[in-house]
Amino acid sequence: MFESKAGIILIAGLFMFALAFVVMGLLPWLIYLDKPEQTMEDLVAGGVTAEFVDLAERFPAQFKEHFPDGVTRGSYASALERGRDIYVAEGCWHCHSQQVRPVSNEDLRFGPVSHAREYHNVLQRPVLFGTRRVGPDLIREAARRSNDWHVAHFFDPVLVSPTSVMPTYPWLYDDEDYPNRDGMSLIAYVQWLGSWLPEYPYFQGEGPMGPTERSGDEVALARESEGS
Ligand code: HEC
Repeated sequence: MFESKAGIILIAGLFMFALAFVVMGLLPWLIYLDKPEQTMEDLVAGGVTAEFVDLAERFPAQFKEHFPDGVTRGSYASALERGRDIYVAEGCWHCHSQQVRPVSNEDLRFGPVSHAREYHNVLQRPVLFGTRRVGPDLIREAARRSNDWHVAHFFDPVLVSPTSVMPTYPWLYDDEDYPNRDGMSLIAYVQWLGSWLPEYPYFQGEGPMGPTERSGDEVALARESEGS
């Protein structure tokens, strides 16, 4: 076997396959073996984002209809789960990645480079890394745009981004063009992406701001306890 070139290439191929299996499969599996995957309860334990509260304030009647319990961790969890399901069902992952890679200065455009632990939760099952970037990466989308912007954008992307090739999503709106339960859930979901970082809200205002005193969780929890 070793006399022929084909034999050597075969052995080399098998070796590379085994190496890839160990590095990409076995090692990560061993590293995370004793670290439990974050459940929905873990994810919302810190509170809700300021953007979720904003949805409730902006569309009080509709929000009450879709989330009868108001702004609670429970409603937030259900919105995130539904938003993730819509993201999968609508094929958003065809055009959007959810991973900032440590190459090509991606962090300058999208925010901090992704870390493996960010994907160790139920909302990343299946993982939504994505393979194509027809549109921008979304894992740092939280607070980059206002809820209003998203409401207009999902309704018809060219309203706010004139050269956009992103499809319209009219079925995320009710008869009066307010976002329906699916629409609000999807917005809550994209506003969640990256909200767990200390740098959040990274892109609020004119651009990357870095660490800030303001925490969406604090704002939201304060309002929750005030009973709004
Ligand atoms: C055909 C490809 C395509 C599909 C499918 C698609 N998008 Fe997009 N998306 C784009 C492009 C291109 C842009 C950049 C232009 C713009 O802002 O519309 C974009 C922009 C965005 C932005 C704004 C990012 C930012 O802050 O600049 C968000 C959020 C977004 N898309 C979410 C979604 C979601 C959620 C879905 C699924 C419901 C989706 N997209 C489906 C192509 C797509």
